[in-house]
Amino acid sequence: MKALLKLLPVFGSLTIAVYAQCPDYTTYSQSPQGSLSTGPLALPYMRPAPACRTFNSTAVEDVIANMTARLKDPDIARLFENTFPNTLDTTVRYYNSTENLAFIITGDITAQWLRDTANQFAHYHTLLSVDKDLAALVKAVINNEARYVSQYPYCGAFQPPPESGLSPTVNDWALGVTVNPPVDNQTVFECKYELDSLCGFIKLSRSYYKATGDDSIMNDNWYAAIDQIFRVIDEQSQASFDEDFDWISYYNWTGGNGALSPAVNNAGNGEPKGYTGLVGTHHRPSDDLSTFAFLTPANAMLSVELSYLAEILDEVGQAENISSLARQWSSTISGAIWDTTIVNNIFAYETNGLGSRYVMDDANLPSLLSLPYLGFLNKTHPAYVATRKVLLSRYNPYYAAGKNFSGIGGPHVDAWNPWPMSQVSAIFGTDDDAEITNALYLIANNTNGLGLIHESQSIYNATDYTRPWFAWANSYFAEMLLDLAQRKPYLIFKENVSYTPGQ
Ligand SMILES: *[C@@H]1O[C@H](CO)[C@@H](O)[C@H](O)[C@H]1NC(C)=O
Ligand SMILES: *[C@@H]1O[C@H](CO)[C@@H](O)[C@H](O)[C@H]1NC(C)=O
Ligand SMILES: *[C@@H]1O[C@H](CO)[C@@H](O)[C@H](O)[C@H]1NC(C)=O
Ligand SMILES: *[C@@H]1O[C@H](CO)[C@@H](O)[C@H](O)[C@H]1NC(C)=O
Ligand SMILES: *[C@@H]1O[C@H](CO)[C@@H](O)[C@H](O)[C@H]1NC(C)=O
Ligand SMILES: *[C@@H]1O[C@H](CO)[C@@H](O)[C@H](O)[C@H]1NC(C)=O
Ligand SMILES: *[C@@H]1O[C@H](CO)[C@@H](O)[C@H](O)[C@H]1NC(C)=O
Ligand SMILES: *[C@@H]1O[C@H](CO)[C@@H](O)[C@H](O)[C@H]1NC(C)=O
Ligand SMILES: *[C@@H]1O[C@H](CO)[C@@H](O)[C@H](O)[C@H]1NC(C)=O
Ligand SMILES: *[C@@H]1O[C@H](CO)[C@@H](O)[C@H](O)[C@H]1NC(C)=O
Ligand SMILES: *[C@@H]1O[C@H](CO)[C@@H](O)[C@H](O)[C@H]1NC(C)=O
Repeated sequence: MKALLKLLPVFGSLTIAVYAQCPDYTTYSQSPQGSLSTGPLALPYMRPAPACRTFNSTAVEDVIANMTARLKDPDIARLFENTFPNTLDTTVRYYNSTENLAFIITGDITAQWLRDTANQFAHYHTLLSVDKDLAALVKAVINNEARYVSQYPYCGAFQPPPESGLSPTVNDWALGVTVNPPVDNQTVFECKYELDSLCGFIKLSRSYYKATGDDSIMNDNWYAAIDQIFRVIDEQSQASFDEDFDWISYYNWTGGNGALSPAVNNAGNGEPKGYTGLVGTHHRPSDDLSTFAFLTPANAMLSVELSYLAEILDEVGQAENISSLARQWSSTISGAIWDTTIVNNIFAYETNGLGSRYVMDDANLPSLLSLPYLGFLNKTHPAYVATRKVLLSRYNPYYAAGKNFSGIGGPHVDAWNPWPMSQVSAIFGTDDDAEITNALYLIANNTNGLGLIHESQSIYNATDYTRPWFAWANSYFAEMLLDLAQRKPYLIFKENVSYTPGQ
């Protein structure tokens, strides 16, 4: 209730009464709501009432109708119906098309993460060419993010734009943290430096441009953000020590006495690194601290996204200096991944450029398991096949299997609570029908009867899960079903005929 009331300045007085009636979705998503699906799982309809939805799209409704008519299992159809629209139904906290600004929350946390938004909209890309209003919303998201990135390229999670009139959310985990360069907490929710956040911004931008052909997103604000991204790439690819063993530090972050966030080694700099051509990060996509700075999957994503960036800039015939720099970095990074992260065909999750490596995978993405999804390599590549086998076994310290659930977790929750998202990545990474079906039902069987995708799930206990309202996980699951609709229609549809939204 409290959260939705904050919407009022945007929608004006007419809808005050309506939004005031809307339940808080964090609470709403924790118990079964509408009618049950007719399959054995009997999953409830969990979309908010139409009047409470935060954005309407007829194209999205059309895809839901098409998919649910084709899916053979009513439980999977119900999951699609709940998850596909979840971003639009619940997370558009502020949108003004005149201002070209939108503020998108993650779900139960009222802040905009660059990573989450890129993923929260990834399954709508094919619709941007058919739904102009949806495209305008995405454009407004990109514009808001260009502002954030140009100002604070080292940060990943942000507060509402001042135009929204929404008040910033206090983040207890950011209190007592010393971060350099320093940030303003009216704009920044949390300034953890996570390389893939910047990749998310590029991914959203290039996907929008590719779908719409609209180059008006590339305004001064956007170019300023892109320049800052190259500044970070340059700074974070450097070795920690100079010739005199002075630490070259461009960014540092550490919790102090009494802070909820941990103190970080080496005055907030983390472990030292050498130069390899890879770009360092400070935190992982889970928002946990990195062990070693060179996160292989984030670099893989960066290499892919920089190559798209070069492509779109060349298409619009602008900024040749940036496109050639992007192409150069893309190839340096991918060369360094192949040269420095693989031993015996197995990719390391992290390396330090000085000979140390950590073979593991974390639960969300970019992860090693998601390398094919990220577009870095083919799922049939021998190095991926060999690595995937390790990741889904005891040799990955964060893989766990119990009588209820299995998959990859991480230090963010713990090893015994893998994330359903890791099973989605596993599906994107194989063509094996039996493995796909098994992973799909591991996820479907483990929503605690709520019909939404959660952050983590206990391997032993069906009712023990985290984050009832996590839009990214819902979007990623729906995106996977749309991928199967093209790749493996006979596995999920009544008829063996593929389906592509918007066609
Ligand atoms: C959108 O922003 C414009 C410009 O600031 C303002 O005039 C208009 O009232 C806003 N629209 C809504 C619905 O708040
Ligand atoms: C979505 O449509 C419903 C009517 O079906 C309406 O009540 C609601 O205000 C709309 N939401 C937005 C954000 O426009
Ligand atoms: C900003 O930081 C100050 C000082 O730590 C704190 O009192 C305030 O609550 C913070 N505001 C937000 C929105 O985080
Ligand atoms: C932290 O980073 C800033 C640059 O943002 C740098 O000036 C400062 O020396 C660094 N501090 C340490 C202890 O490394
Ligand atoms: C590209 O060139 C423009 C115009 O000279 C300049 O403003 C911008 O900073 C350059 N960008 C990069 C990444 O070199
Ligand atoms: C991956 O490689 C297989 C052959 O092993 C090929 O059929 C397929 O088209 C490739 N996929 C992609 C996305 O390149
Ligand atoms: C999912 O649950 C059904 C029972 O409803 C069971 O038959 C099936 O084996 C389960 N699948 C997985 C992968 O756990
Ligand atoms: C899952 O866990 C619950 C306990 O929470 C147990 O009753 C149930 O039998 C388990 N399901 C499976 C498929 O093992
Ligand atoms: C399963 O998890 C729920 C929710 O965390 C908890 O209340 C319950 O005690 C757990 N059951 C067992 C058998 O551990
Ligand atoms: C599904 O259709 C494709 C051609 O569209 C065909 O190659 C494939 O064998 C069919 N699969 C099944 C299981 O019927
Ligand atoms: C849904 O199916 C209808 C009828 O087959 C078709 O006209 C429409 O284009 C489809 N919509 C989408 C988004 O695929």
